[in-house]
Amino acid sequence: MSSPSTAVESTLVENRVFPPSEATVKAARISGMDGYNALCAEAEKDFEGFWARLARENVVWTKPFTKTLDESNAPFYKWFEDGELNASANCLDKHMGTPVENKTAVIFEADDGVVTKTSYKELLARVSQFANALKAHGINKGDRVLIYMPMSLEGVIAMQACARIGAIHSVVFGGFSAKALQERIMDAGAVAVVTANYQKRGGKELPLKSIVDEGLGLGGCESIKTVFVYQRATTACNMVAGRDVTFTDALAGQSTECAPVAVGAEHPLFILFTSGSTGKPKGVQHSTGGFLLWAKLTMDWVFDLQPSDVFWCTADIGWITGHSYVAYGPLAAGATQIIFEGIPTYPNAGRFWQMIERHKCSIFYTAPTAIRALIKSAESDAKVHPDRSDLSSLRILGTVGEPINPEAWMWYYKHVGRERCPIVDTFWQTESGGHMISPLPGATPLVPGSCTLPLPGIMAAIVDEAGHDVPNGSGGLLVVKRPWPSMIRTIWNDPERFKKGYFPDELGGTVYLAGDGAVRSVDRGYFRITGRIDDVLNVSGHRMGTMEIESALVAKTDLVAEAAVVGRPDDMTGEAICAFVVLKRPVPTGDEAKAIAKELRDWVAKEIGPIAKPKDIRFGENLPKTRSGKIMRRLLRSLAKGETITQDTSTLENPAILDQLGQTY
Ligand code: PRX
Repeated sequence: MSSPSTAVESTLVENRVFPPSEATVKAARISGMDGYNALCAEAEKDFEGFWARLARENVVWTKPFTKTLDESNAPFYKWFEDGELNASANCLDKHMGTPVENKTAVIFEADDGVVTKTSYKELLARVSQFANALKAHGINKGDRVLIYMPMSLEGVIAMQACARIGAIHSVVFGGFSAKALQERIMDAGAVAVVTANYQKRGGKELPLKSIVDEGLGLGGCESIKTVFVYQRATTACNMVAGRDVTFTDALAGQSTECAPVAVGAEHPLFILFTSGSTGKPKGVQHSTGGFLLWAKLTMDWVFDLQPSDVFWCTADIGWITGHSYVAYGPLAAGATQIIFEGIPTYPNAGRFWQMIERHKCSIFYTAPTAIRALIKSAESDAKVHPDRSDLSSLRILGTVGEPINPEAWMWYYKHVGRERCPIVDTFWQTESGGHMISPLPGATPLVPGSCTLPLPGIMAAIVDEAGHDVPNGSGGLLVVKRPWPSMIRTIWNDPERFKKGYFPDELGGTVYLAGDGAVRSVDRGYFRITGRIDDVLNVSGHRMGTMEIESALVAKTDLVAEAAVVGRPDDMTGEAICAFVVLKRPVPTGDEAKAIAKELRDWVAKEIGPIAKPKDIRFGENLPKTRSGKIMRRLLRSLAKGETITQDTSTLENPAILDQLGQTY
């Protein structure tokens, strides 16, 4: 990489530009901006022809498709509909008889540092065997299987095994509560759960199976016939006779061969629940053909994957990033990847850097929130500074999940990438299935804090509320004007919500509304994401709906009368959750307030999961409302930030409460 052209420390005016080095451009799959522009031009000229070519070149079809895109029932778009394939065969069987067969597919590093390597051939055998175990328990094509697993090879095997028999997986992040699990099981109508007795993180054993038992015990989960339990720890766990089966017992006697079931391209590969601005979490439904195509192709394009690369995406399989860039993309692309069970700060905050050195990782993909936390640790303890590790194997860095502030970007670039490695700041969403707006490492000049340009074929734009394009430099709504293969197909059980939420009539009904604000730079037309335009918060890269947290709080009926939740900026976590609470008792102060705040946090952790715990809790005898009774959320956001209130508060029913709400617990 060349040196920056200028140095400006500001998030608004960012003049530093880092073009790729000539050698990087030369060696890259998509070489230079000419390479990028040529692909964009191909997509512009013949949109369907472009996608058809890529789908034929990158996916193994058991029955070729004859029609690329069906828009007749927009926005319920269909891609490659009459084609048939199997996702697991595209990740595993495809490599048999090629040099990839004996290549290491997964380097698994356990929490305690024990490393195991699994080849593609071995992985195929293990996936097939688990697929046979699923079948032996009556699980068939189209059945939903809920996966609640630690970061593990077994988690990926469970996902791949479902795909192999055409069952639809729904992975729930291990940090969600029993209640959250129960809601997702009910909505998906799952027939089985795949879990572990414990998960090991940071030297601790955390129970998973007991949370499953609790969730199933809440009622409404009668559809669950089997619970498969991976024994990650030797510590015993409760097993329910006739329902629960250990992995060992389920796999005993099962063949390591299982013919993959060919499914239609539109057959759902998985459902993944995510938070929206209203109501309960929604089950984002993805297709088999389109999802797989984009997971594979973005590995090649955005990570410029080469046969010798060692790829490491640190995301948990409970999130979309762990679906596209752990469970499917790297395998479809034939990569060697690292899967890490633990946390970045155990046994010390140099773990990531030490692991990069140990496994000669060449492509490293993580979240800005992790980078910010590790910067803090490195600055206070030289022993865990990345400068202490040999990071010469790295060639590409990536970030995902939230905006990266230019200061963190520069640190990552300098201390991890040693000013050699391009950073791909990838903007995308659970709904998009894969990267949408991102630099290409061998093409795009980088600007810190900008996800730069849409990938070829992704027709992203910024529009005003009436759907008209806004000029560069003006902020607006991020939209995608044409469908793309890996897009969300619908919300499970709620097509109306899908239509209304993502394809609003105001924008014509066929344009995808991302839910983010964005602005393009005047000089280069580069995209910068300015944050969500709805009531969705991004805390440490985890997506949370404010309404969800509000509902959880008011469900504590013995204590809470009313609650409003807003986000405020936080240096470490990006955004922090701030809850304003009206109790069914006088406004508490001092130790009493602290004790109630703790009780409420624990309650939210039980209702949703520890990731949803409000960082700030403030009590008032009322919430600021207009005379018509609407909560003044803008005012709450100012209060949460600690800003002096300049807004007009004359319409407030009770202006005195602003003082009460100033105190944080
Ligand atoms: O607000 C955007 C932010 O994360 C949201 C999507 O969250 P989720 O569905 O959980 O998926 C996260 C992993 C793909 C987006 O609407 N976001 C994601 N990536 C970026 C980002 N914001 C800025 N820059 C990014 N690179």
